[in-house]
Formats: sequence, structure tokens, C-alpha cells
Amino acid sequence: MNPTTDLTASVPAPSGPPATDSSATSRSAGATAPSSGAAATAVSARGLVKTYGRGEAAVRALAGVDVDFAAGRFTAIMGPSGSGKSTLMHCLAGLDTADAGRIVLGGQEITGLGDTALTRLRRDRIGFVFQAFNLVPTLTAEQNIVLPLDLAGRPVDRDWLADVVGILGLGDRLGHKPHELSGGQQQRVAVARALLTRPDVVFGDEPTGNLDSATGAEVLSLLRRSSREMGQTVIMVTHDPVAASYADRVVLLEDGRLAGEISDPTPENVLASLAKLGVA
Ligand SMILES: Nc1ncnc2c1ncn2[C@@H]1O[C@H](COP(=O)(O)OP(=O)(O)OP(=O)(O)O)[C@@H](O)[C@H]1O
Ligand SMILES: [Mg+2]
Repeated sequence: MNPTTDLTASVPAPSGPPATDSSATSRSAGATAPSSGAAATAVSARGLVKTYGRGEAAVRALAGVDVDFAAGRFTAIMGPSGSGKSTLMHCLAGLDTADAGRIVLGGQEITGLGDTALTRLRRDRIGFVFQAFNLVPTLTAEQNIVLPLDLAGRPVDRDWLADVVGILGLGDRLGHKPHELSGGQQQRVAVARALLTRPDVVFGDEPTGNLDSATGAEVLSLLRRSSREMGQTVIMVTHDPVAASYADRVVLLEDGRLAGEISDPTPENVLASLAKLGVA
């Protein structure tokens, strides 16, 4: 499990979690792999069922999904349009609730939590990178990056901020507003914002969908580095076999069910697996 985001982090105390130089340094030194065993699980789902609508109009978006996401790894979720990828991600991230099944995130069962608890869970333990960058236009890059911590009343670990900003190459852009940044820079700000809280999981829904391929590659490399060098768990929905090849593992969905996985994804083997699922 992510060593800095235990259960106590979900309760923002006035003093907040320790933000010492040594903790920042140790996390940035690459010694951040999960320490509680190689197979630590960041998120797991069991028997996940989700139906939209009723009666004849009912659509079973998730039809019993069992899946585990290892801590510190970068996983892509793929599958045909309508196969349930976004639904799965939204349920795992506490943005939507399943009708049946269990989800455990960072050691805590999140199924059954009420709205307030889910809001707090998302704020304290989850980072999001969306296709639309979702930055606040009136705030500078730095203000956007620290916004989740500000909202949570948690202190900003300046060393960790400097590390993240340095890795993302945003050092000379911190005073700029989003409209003064390129699409890639805006998405890097969104990635920095997601990483700064040291969440249990960073979720991305088509995070490179609005970027050209060179800029997308840059953001994907950063997500990969965040898992390899910072021990960050990343789960990304994508349609793009090249994007998926940056992940350590691809999970395939079809008709709301798990339809296989690829442990060392390349654009070629991902494309071949998608072709078997009937995706052109
Ligand atoms: N709010 C909703 N109301 C009704 N049906 C929905 C809703 N959200 C999703 N669905 C249906 O659930 C199924 C799964 O949708 P989901 O968005 O998870 O698919 P997806 O794999 O993310 O597809 P895409 O690749 O097109 O984004 C689809 O049949 C979809 O039409
Ligand atoms: Mg979707």
C-alpha cells in the first residue's frame, strides 16, 4: 500500500499528516515501492454489477467484474465502446455506486459508503486526470496543483511539490494561467495536481484523448514514471493501443465482464487482443 496514505489520511486533522523534508526526500528517491509485499493490492473489485435504467430499457453495464489492481503499477482498461470501462472506473473511484459487489480501495471497503464519505474518499485518497483537463481558469498552474490540498485543509509539502513539478517539467510555468499553457502543459498540471496529494490511486479516463500524439506520449511517460519512480498506482481507461502500451498491464472488458488481460502490452499485442473482441 502507498505508505503515505493510510486510513488516517482520510480524516484531515488540523495538523495534517507529517510533511517533513525526510519523507519528501525518501519518496523522491525511487525507494517508494510498496513496502508491504510485492503483491500489495491498491484496489480490488469482486462481483461488481451495475445496471442503468429499468425494465426493457435496462442496460447491464457491469455484469459481475472481479479484478485486482496491484499497488504501484500502471494498468490500462480497454474494450469495445459500451463494454463498461467508464462505469468500472467510476465505481472504483467512488464517482458512482455499484448495485452489487464489493470494492476495496487502499484497504478500506468503499461499497456502502454514503455520499459524504465518498466525497471525502475522492478528495483524500484518489487523484483524477480527465480527458478535459478540468483546471480552474482563474487560478495559476501552481494554485491549481495545490487546490485539492487547500480544499482539504491539508498542508502543502513544498519539497514534494518541487519534485513533482520538476519531474513534470513545469517549473517555469507555475505562474501561468491555464489559457497561457499548451494542451500538454495543462494536462501536466492536471497530472501534478493528481500526484501531489499522494493518492492511493490516480485514475485517468482517456487522459491523452485531447492531445496530439507527441504531447500524449509525454503525458503517458509521466504517468509511467509516476508509477515506476514514485510508486504511484495508476489506472487509465483508453481506446489507444499505443497509450495502453505504456502500462504494465492491460485489463480487457467486453459486455460488462472481464475478457482477458495482457501483462506486457505492446501496441501490436493490444491491437491483436482488441481485434479478437471485434474492435476494429
Ligand atoms: N448514465 C447512464 N444511463 C444509462 N445507460 C448508461 C449510462 N452510462 C452508461 N450507460 C450504458 O452502460 C454501458 C456501459 O457504458 P460505459 O460508459 O461504461 O462504456 P465504455 O466502455 O466506457 O464506452 P466508451 O468506450 O464508448 O466510452 C453502455 O451500454 C452505456 O450505454
Ligand atoms: Mg467510456
